[in-house]
Amino acid sequence: MGEGLGLQKIIKATPSKALVIRINLVFLAFFLVIYASLLLRPSSSVYFENAASLVRCSLRECHHKVEKGVKMEAVLEENESGSKRKPETNLTKLEVPRFIDEIGGGLKIGMVNFEDKDYSEWETHGETIPILFERVSELFEWQHLFPEWIDEEEEIDGPKCPEIPMPDFSKYDNMDLIVAKLPCKYPEDGWAREVFRLQVHLIAANLAVKNGKRDWNWRTKVVFLSKCRPMLEVFRCNDLVKQEDEWWYYEPEVARLEQKVSLPVGSCELALPLWEQGTDEVFDASKIEQATRTVKGEAYVTVLHSSEAYVCGAITLAQSLVKTGTKRDLILLLDKSISEPKRDVLKAAGWQLRFIKRIQNPRAEKGSYNEYNYSKFRLWQLTDYDKVIFVDADIIVLRNLDLLFHFPQMTATGNDVWIFNSGIMVIEPSNCTFKLLMNKRKEIFSYNGGDQGFLNEVFVWWHRLPRRVNFLKNFWSNSTVETGLKNQLFAADPPKVYAIHYLGLKPWLCYRDYDCNWNIGDQRVYASDVAHRRWWKFYDAMDEKLRKFCGLTKRRKIDLDWDRKKAGEAGLIDKHWRINITDSRRWKKNLIQ
Ligand SMILES: *[C@@H]1O[C@H](CO)[C@@H](O)[C@H](O)[C@H]1NC(C)=O
Ligand SMILES: *[C@@H]1O[C@H](CO)[C@@H](O)[C@H](O)[C@H]1NC(C)=O
Ligand SMILES: *[C@@H]1O[C@H](CO)[C@@H](O)[C@H](O)[C@H]1NC(C)=O
Ligand SMILES: *[C@@H]1O[C@H](CO)[C@@H](O)[C@H](O)[C@H]1NC(C)=O
Ligand SMILES: *[C@@H]1O[C@H](CO)[C@@H](O)[C@H](O)[C@H]1NC(C)=O
Ligand SMILES: *[C@@H]1O[C@H](CO)[C@@H](O)[C@H](O)[C@H]1NC(C)=O
Repeated sequence: MGEGLGLQKIIKATPSKALVIRINLVFLAFFLVIYASLLLRPSSSVYFENAASLVRCSLRECHHKVEKGVKMEAVLEENESGSKRKPETNLTKLEVPRFIDEIGGGLKIGMVNFEDKDYSEWETHGETIPILFERVSELFEWQHLFPEWIDEEEEIDGPKCPEIPMPDFSKYDNMDLIVAKLPCKYPEDGWAREVFRLQVHLIAANLAVKNGKRDWNWRTKVVFLSKCRPMLEVFRCNDLVKQEDEWWYYEPEVARLEQKVSLPVGSCELALPLWEQGTDEVFDASKIEQATRTVKGEAYVTVLHSSEAYVCGAITLAQSLVKTGTKRDLILLLDKSISEPKRDVLKAAGWQLRFIKRIQNPRAEKGSYNEYNYSKFRLWQLTDYDKVIFVDADIIVLRNLDLLFHFPQMTATGNDVWIFNSGIMVIEPSNCTFKLLMNKRKEIFSYNGGDQGFLNEVFVWWHRLPRRVNFLKNFWSNSTVETGLKNQLFAADPPKVYAIHYLGLKPWLCYRDYDCNWNIGDQRVYASDVAHRRWWKFYDAMDEKLRKFCGLTKRRKIDLDWDRKKAGEAGLIDKHWRINITDSRRWKKNLIQ
């Protein structure tokens, strides 16, 4: 009623008291009407606005913690939409795709989201069962499911995903086939991040898991009607059996689908919780660890292409992975730009080498530094592995990451807005996914010209890992609190973070004395001497013959000394430029080619 008071103040300026009272009465009545209409409104928006307080639901255990009034409305509406279903006006007749004949007759068919269609023709193939559900509110936006920041350390209350309404699965028997009509706003801006579209996908997936009949192979049958390709994050491209006009026929593996629908509906909650729900106790990951103890076609992978600038990083990464005690293969994808002697050292560091042809970004400028950054797509061609964990070559791993193999594609850590960071990703290699990525190179616009921007347009639905899995070395919020906390995490021994991602200038391109990001104005948000020292500790632990490609080139030394001189002239207040350099890599005899 704050607004009402404000209006009263304005009205007070008028002389007539009677008028003031009359107007106040009018306002009072007005607000009563609004209040009443809010109470009686259809439940969808009430649901959403109170989602956090009313509902505690993650699809894992979907019980509605709903107050009586709201629940009633939901039921009423369900019944209403059920009775309204029979057409009064002429509806578009829905034809049956030819491949249904192959599935057979006498089917029980669940129909999802066909309210505006006459699907009587489908009845020749069996019994059609309309699946009733409450559509998500228009006010429900993608960023509610994929917020930039979540309280993953549970400092305040712990993160909570808003609820996406689901049908009452217990009301339906087993079904032979699920048929769903997907909304598709393509080519409208942001069409892929439509919550309603996700809702229909998730309803189909949940029905397939909870009510779908399984064949001998433990697969179910799902058919979509859609102008755009169904989300490959939910329905794997490998499971697509047939496509006919706008019909897409999938036979998904129930086990994989089951895992996906058991994860949070967005990155609004962690896929791998740090703490038990609502307590300070550390989450018991032992079940997951047990599941990932046996190695089955899994590998850690990194990629080197176009230049040798990251060779030293890849060597250190391999050594850090070996130190975590993992039994998985370490695979390095590299192109011919990496010289013979460097290949030998990379092998000695622990990598198995596989040669690739780099992949061009057709939208990048010719000769630009990121022209070939789509080379990471080659990861999807590693089809002799079920799953790979990609790790950028500017990362060192401090703790065993094997438990990530438990998670489906796409699982990663957050970057900003609804974007994930492509530095560490869980990927499921697949020839058809690879082909799809290649075919979309021209069409998709990558916000940063790199693979991260591209992959985020393809895999919009992703699962969030704790920041500590891929801890970014940055200080974007520019506060002493942030600096203190992060540096404490970088330093902790035994380590508290799983991996450190060295953004900005890489440690092996600085003198070991301090983080050279300090000396360049716009790189200073990446400067941390603590994280820098952590990297050099790994370097020191490495064999002499592995270190030899971590030297400085003449060119790099000139640049470093130049930056330092400039920082001194600018009088940067941290005064790192004053520190005397003791790093022996600067001596002429130690410079490398
Ligand atoms: C739905 O409406 C019918 C009458 O049209 C009624 O008999 C039935 O009990 C209602 N179902 C629910 C779940 O309210
Ligand atoms: C529906 O279609 C039939 C024939 O196709 C036509 O005769 C009838 O008038 C139509 N009804 C409405 C409500 O449009
Ligand atoms: C993927 O394609 C490659 C070559 O194009 C082939 O050798 C490989 O067997 C394929 N993988 C699968 C799982 O079909
Ligand atoms: C492109 O790749 C280079 C070298 O791997 C890397 O330094 C750069 O950050 C990448 N750029 C983008 C936009 O991903
Ligand atoms: C960070 O904060 C300091 C003062 O607290 C300010 O001088 C500096 O310009 C800020 N840097 C950035 C990049 O915002
Ligand atoms: C750096 O070295 C110079 C001469 O070698 C010496 O005079 C100076 O005190 C040293 N500075 C620091 C901070 O150690």
